[in-house]
Amino acid sequence: MPFTHIFFTAFPAWGHARPFCILAARLVKEHPDVIFTLLLPPNLLSKAQDEVDAELHEATSQEIRTRIRILSSFQMTTPDPFMAIQQTIATYPDIYKAIHAGESVACATKGTVFDAVVPPSIAVMDFFTYPQMKLTRSISGDKTPIFGWLTGKAASLIRLFGPESLGGFGDLGARVEAEATRLGVTPAEIGDKLYQETTGKVIRLPGVPEMYDYEFFPQELPFNIPVTELFKGSYNFLRECDGAFAVNTPDLEGDAISALRSWLTDAWGKEVYAIGPLLPSGYGVVEQSPRGATDIKDFLDRMLENYGENSTMLVSFGTAFWPPDTTYLEEVIDCLILMNFPFILSHASPFAKVSEELKERIKLSGIGITTTWCPQQYILGHKATGWFLTHCGHNSITESIGSGVPMIAWPFNADQPEGAYDLDNAGLGIELLQVRTGEHAKKPLLRNGKGASGTREAVGAEMKDVIASCRGEKGARIRENVEKMKIKFLGSWEDGGEARKEFNSFLRKYTDLS
Ligand SMILES: *[C@@H]1O[C@H](CO)[C@@H](O)[C@H](O)[C@H]1NC(C)=O
Repeated sequence: MPFTHIFFTAFPAWGHARPFCILAARLVKEHPDVIFTLLLPPNLLSKAQDEVDAELHEATSQEIRTRIRILSSFQMTTPDPFMAIQQTIATYPDIYKAIHAGESVACATKGTVFDAVVPPSIAVMDFFTYPQMKLTRSISGDKTPIFGWLTGKAASLIRLFGPESLGGFGDLGARVEAEATRLGVTPAEIGDKLYQETTGKVIRLPGVPEMYDYEFFPQELPFNIPVTELFKGSYNFLRECDGAFAVNTPDLEGDAISALRSWLTDAWGKEVYAIGPLLPSGYGVVEQSPRGATDIKDFLDRMLENYGENSTMLVSFGTAFWPPDTTYLEEVIDCLILMNFPFILSHASPFAKVSEELKERIKLSGIGITTTWCPQQYILGHKATGWFLTHCGHNSITESIGSGVPMIAWPFNADQPEGAYDLDNAGLGIELLQVRTGEHAKKPLLRNGKGASGTREAVGAEMKDVIASCRGEKGARIRENVEKMKIKFLGSWEDGGEARKEFNSFLRKYTDLS
């Protein structure tokens, strides 16, 4: 039987790889003649295998399982996955050459040996892996189409990489080089200056209400990682790839997806397939696994019994973000305790600081629990969970809506500020406006002309209002809106659903599968 072999590689961020794991598992079940190789950074190997196993379910045959091959090209010698990016690139040519030649390959981390199979006919690459993309081209030439794997909010892709006419930065790398030449310095010395520069200009992004440029930086960050160089690579990736998958859904981001097509397809000649949301099959309907977190399960079961359905709030800023000064966060937690609103505080970020005193206060309250690791999909799917206080990363928003859980938005950076405003504006959540910190916190927002007060009292007053809204008519209306969106999400990968149709047209054009 002629096999279609699809190769995938990702940046060391779980949110980028996770949706592909679901897609791959779905495809091997549906098509007997497709095979996948997922080349991942070592820190994602086990997570990816778990995700694939969960999607395949126990009944799936061994034959199907062997058609998803997950491996790494090196062994991690540093605990920081971002420090390992150089190693990822250095070890890439040898392993990709072997895969391209249809040879047997072994996982450098786990030692698993994978049999020789046909060479890949398609490479799907995270668009944050530009160096590997260039290596792929140099090895397989134009014979193997390269598709970009775009995760993140569609409007934000336009903001970072799209033309200025659509509200984007245009070619940021070229602008940095021009500025460096003008000043007689190196681009490295310019760093993120142009990216972070704000003048109070109004930004009009497709599908997002207008915002001042400084509104895209609403928080002080716990880290300082330069991004311009990475963004320059992604821009080049988009210019040089053959097409792209956008893990976005027109149900939520219709205008931005159209704009993405008018830029990438009409102007740059790249095909774009919008195939989101990619959530586990039955997500939002069948219960997800707590993946060993029995304390969380017990807590939620107890809250359901004592406080009822939709009574509990998950508070999580994801695996990287955290407010460097925790005063406002403590105030928010104090309000939840004061108003008897049960909550889970997840502090997974390596930058997270939770004082012993706060932990003690939460424990004594009897309605809160802290955790460093949170099975987010399980929590969002639990009947007790009614709200999600989130940094508004694209995956978190998708998972929350997929579970029918409305959001309280506390955005930090990247695609979160516009994601938060969008949710608030669409009636799918409520954005906290007083929690803003850093140099732009007190500047007026375009939507209401007001800046944050910059006090703990103002944060408390706002949070109490928000809690009252959650329990009142406004909260009920938002919950209804989210529930409607959830139903749309559920249909998108069904037969005749938008994502399914879109993906099938890709399969017809690029593979022998149908
Ligand atoms: C909880 O929310 C769901 C929708 O997500 C709704 O169907 C259900 O009626 C709500 N339960 C209560 C007790 O309000």
